[in-house]
Amino acid sequence: MTAIKAAFERIGEENAFAVLARAAELQRQGRDIINLGIGQPDFKTPPHIVEAAVKALRDGEHGYTDATGIAPLREAVAEDLHRRLGAEVSPDLIMIVPGGKVTMFMAIEMFGEKGVDIVYPDPGFPIYRSMIEFTGARPIPIPMREENGFAFSADETLALMTPETRLIILNSPANPTGGVTPKEEIDKLVAGLARFPNAAILSDEIYGQLTYDGLAHQTLLAYPEIRDRLILLDGWSKTYAMTGWRLGYSVWPKPWRDVARKLAVNAYSCVNAPAQFAGIAALKGPQDSVGAMRAEFDRRRKAVTAGLNQLPGVSAVTPKGAFYAFPNVSRTGWKAKPLASALLQDAGVATIGGPDFGVYGEGYLRLSYANSLENIERALERIGDYLSRPARAAAG
Ligand SMILES: Cc1ncc(COP(=O)(O)O)c(C=O)c1O
Repeated sequence: MTAIKAAFERIGEENAFAVLARAAELQRQGRDIINLGIGQPDFKTPPHIVEAAVKALRDGEHGYTDATGIAPLREAVAEDLHRRLGAEVSPDLIMIVPGGKVTMFMAIEMFGEKGVDIVYPDPGFPIYRSMIEFTGARPIPIPMREENGFAFSADETLALMTPETRLIILNSPANPTGGVTPKEEIDKLVAGLARFPNAAILSDEIYGQLTYDGLAHQTLLAYPEIRDRLILLDGWSKTYAMTGWRLGYSVWPKPWRDVARKLAVNAYSCVNAPAQFAGIAALKGPQDSVGAMRAEFDRRRKAVTAGLNQLPGVSAVTPKGAFYAFPNVSRTGWKAKPLASALLQDAGVATIGGPDFGVYGEGYLRLSYANSLENIERALERIGDYLSRPARAAAG
């Protein structure tokens, strides 16, 4: 058979999907599995958003659209960015894409090649590194440290940058840790970026509406000095419980937006039309479901953190954003990935081992608290029982 090009030997995956498949397989065998593995809200898309898509189909809105997205949706995104974050963004700079991931795919493709460096958070969303390696660029992980609440350290990040750095990827609030980087650290980082004018910046703010304890989301759009090299990644998946709709958006400097448009034309033409109408309803309709979801996540966040800190050998910092907890399990005597596998197989709880998010994830598990409080409590009890069994405690 003809060999596909070598770059495909370097492309990675998201293990969360493999864990989901394994959990589903065990469920088919009749096992009771509590899934804290997958990163998607367990809420339904609010009905007015669903209705907008149904209406669009009934109204005959099912043809191709502009490759950058329909104008009313791009205008609604611009208004939303202004309302929420005070950012001035022209609809001409906005690109509607099929899911948040597509922006990272495009941005990493645009800047990644042999001979350049791309710095990215570790532990971090696994597709960053996968795509960096695919392009042939050198991946430079930025350690996200527990002692910093899994926030970026501006000094440590800047120390990893060189004239070869072509792209820096930031993510706050963060997957897999729930870490939120404070404003002072972002200020310092942005100031330091002046020393690296050739580095584009990809800010993944897909969890921007999921911050807790009254923390305001700090967007990179707030810094005019980097707007000519900033790509903002956001979307509807997490905020409006719309993961399966495949709807995201990005903001680009104009010349790069035109390149992104060409990539869209070559790859998928446009985002499916009814989903775009749903996107308008989401942004322009009532926002109470966003607040209600956040309040429910907050309740679970507190319960999961308190519960984890009671487990033998486990400690967890309180996540400040997203819907993940990232407990330190290094004192259980287990390596993280064997522990995640054992918990799924023997305790019926799906979690993800920290190393699936990068080398600095060793010693941690990711638990998504996008599950009911009742299931979270049952899962914690099962994990506690499992870790307390004397034969198990030293295994792994
Ligand atoms: C940090 C981060 N960025 C982007 C995405 C991708 O979102 P989407 O499902 O809209 O492609 C995710 C999804 O889990 C994520 O955690």
